[in-house]
Amino acid sequence: MDENKADLFRLFWENSKLNKQTSLKLIKNLIEDARTFKTIPQIFYPSEDLFLKKPKDRLAYIMSQRKSTREFSSVPISEKQLGSLFYAFAQQNSTKRLLPSAGGKYPIEVFACLFNVKSKLNKKIVYYNADNHSLSIVTNCPEWNEIKEFFGLELEGEPAVFFIFVAIPERTVNKYGERGGRFILIETGLYAQSLGLRLANENIGGVISGALHDDEIKKLLKLQNTDALITLGFACGNFK
Ligand SMILES: Cc1cc2nc3c(=O)[nH]c(=O)nc-3n(C[C@H](O)[C@H](O)[C@H](O)COP(=O)(O)O)c2cc1C
Repeated sequence: MDENKADLFRLFWENSKLNKQTSLKLIKNLIEDARTFKTIPQIFYPSEDLFLKKPKDRLAYIMSQRKSTREFSSVPISEKQLGSLFYAFAQQNSTKRLLPSAGGKYPIEVFACLFNVKSKLNKKIVYYNADNHSLSIVTNCPEWNEIKEFFGLELEGEPAVFFIFVAIPERTVNKYGERGGRFILIETGLYAQSLGLRLANENIGGVISGALHDDEIKKLLKLQNTDALITLGFACGNFK
């Protein structure tokens, strides 16, 4: 990455990294936050509100089914389901992807740890090729129990698949500078939401992890000698 393009974004990234020590501090804050009662504040305007009709279509139904699940059964995910989930990030044709991206730079790449999938790729870490909807093998995947502390989630049971969204920052910051840092984070959210909807459609459970241990996950994906950024994780599996 060009050092001059987004120095402050890089600094922000370093300062917000998680590891064994910094995650302990974060957990303390989370426990304190959980103790406080909160309602989500709304902005109030003293005008007469216009009540809107809620859609009753298929998309509205799928959206209503999306929720976070932290308990997984040991039933594996099929290869067909895996294809349906990865389709959240696919390329539609030679010029168009399903997801938008600032300047068409597509800084987000998708990796996954396959812990419990009925496939010859089970127990592999894979990389998703959006152009032809295929998976490449990166390396072998350790058992969930050996590496779960790096994923920052308290789960019951094992996830069948753990998606990891990785940003290649130079693609976006070389064009947009510091503002590109914003776009990278925003685009990660698009990927997570798209996967959340496909999970709901497949009746598969899942939960986002915002607490991945950056350097350990980078090593796991064999990206330790690169500028890649570990942005977000998504644990998925059949409902218990
Ligand atoms: C950016 C982001 C990070 C999150 N990180 C975590 C996490 O680290 N651990 C966790 O248990 N849930 C995490 N979640 C899930 C939220 O806790 C969950 O979405 C929220 O409680 C609302 O519940 P729902 O998804 O069932 O509607 C995260 C969600 C988002 C959007």
